[in-house]
Amino acid sequence: MTNKELIRRIGELKAKRNAIILAHNYQVPEVQDIADITGDSLELSRKAAETEASVIVFCGVHFMAETAAILNPDKVVLLPRKDAGCLMADMITPQDMEWIRREFTDTPIITYVNSTAEVKAMSTICCTSANAVSIARRFAEYPLIYMTPDRNLAMYVAKFVENKVQFWNGYCPVHDSLTPEHVLKQKEKHPEAVFIAHPECRPEVIELADQVFSTSGMLKFVEESDNEEFIVGTEIGILHTMKKRAPNKKFYPAWDLMICNDMKKTSLMDVLKALETMKPRITVPESVRIRALDAIMGMLQGQ
Ligand code: 13P
Ligand code: SF4
Repeated sequence: MTNKELIRRIGELKAKRNAIILAHNYQVPEVQDIADITGDSLELSRKAAETEASVIVFCGVHFMAETAAILNPDKVVLLPRKDAGCLMADMITPQDMEWIRREFTDTPIITYVNSTAEVKAMSTICCTSANAVSIARRFAEYPLIYMTPDRNLAMYVAKFVENKVQFWNGYCPVHDSLTPEHVLKQKEKHPEAVFIAHPECRPEVIELADQVFSTSGMLKFVEESDNEEFIVGTEIGILHTMKKRAPNKKFYPAWDLMICNDMKKTSLMDVLKALETMKPRITVPESVRIRALDAIMGMLQGQ
């Protein structure tokens, strides 16, 4: 089937099912192009909370669809590729959380949304890369906060808060693979370019950054900035949207191999099959959902 035919059939089924298609900024170009909404984790969580559609097709990874299911228990949430996971989310388990809660009593636990529903359910509050600093600042009266699972995001937040910040030793292998050497090489090749980095990058990479943003923060910045050239320190899928939104500007990946294989799994055919079969459906057991919802709503309220 041609892409044109796939897109036509997806459109028909989407209307029939009263479905909305959400896609993360790292999805393959053709999937981003058919989405009703593209965005970072925070924007997509918000849209998932607001939608009046009966079916949410989440083109992203498992924890994102799970977040949508937590927020919308009465809707059908489909993840076109059930095997699209997140290596960072898998780095912390409920057993690890039990240990943290035992060791750090009376300490707020701030969990990055890149985590499983069970881990969220054991946390004080969630955060995303777009709001991690402002969420941490809500706990100013505590001498210590604990952040899970991303050590790099935690070290980034620690620069902006007075509290001591302890953290779990998880990381995103895609962002953590970017080194200062990669960045310096690109800076040498493109001396006029501004270097923008994601807070999942290592501290020594963040040190070299002119600006640090979530993926949607990056998109907004490149559109509005007077600069013409950008070295982009995040998953390379975002370059597609950057070129679309700012066609006259130049974008260089900080390193060509910053590719999240899980984010690249979903194809147009997978989206069509999901709408045809209404599978794979993502659900969260009610006892976990209620507690995870508290942590997510705590984050969304007051934003
Ligand atoms: P944001 O899109 O929220 O910045 O997150 C990046 C990411 O790695 C999602 O998995
Ligand atoms: Fe997870 Fe990293 Fe992929 Fe994002 S880019 S989904 S954090 S492995």
